[in-house]
Amino acid sequence: MINVTFIEHDGTKHKVSAQAGQSVMQAATFNQVPGITADCGGACACATCHAYVTAEWVNSFPEKTEIETDLLECALDVRESSRLSCQLVLTDAADGIVIELPESQ
Ligand code: FES
Repeated sequence: MINVTFIEHDGTKHKVSAQAGQSVMQAATFNQVPGITADCGGACACATCHAYVTAEWVNSFPEKTEIETDLLECALDVRESSRLSCQLVLTDAADGIVIELPESQ
């Protein structure tokens, strides 16, 4: 299992377990973590799975695709660390990862 910690905008932490191959979005939604609605179900078509990958974990995932980059333009409060969490597939190397959530989607 891969341990993932989500931190809401107000600092509330949610520690969940996920399986390799699941996306960060699935780790959140399968565990009822608030803040990620994932309206398109992971099809990279809605940007409601926007999240921030904390600095030490940035290299755990491939770079953004052009589609992800374009779709992030629809998200609120986009930062350098912004990603669409449905595009972030968890591997065992991501055990302990920390993901921050935006104030709103
Ligand atoms: Fe829709 Fe990620 S769930 S873009």
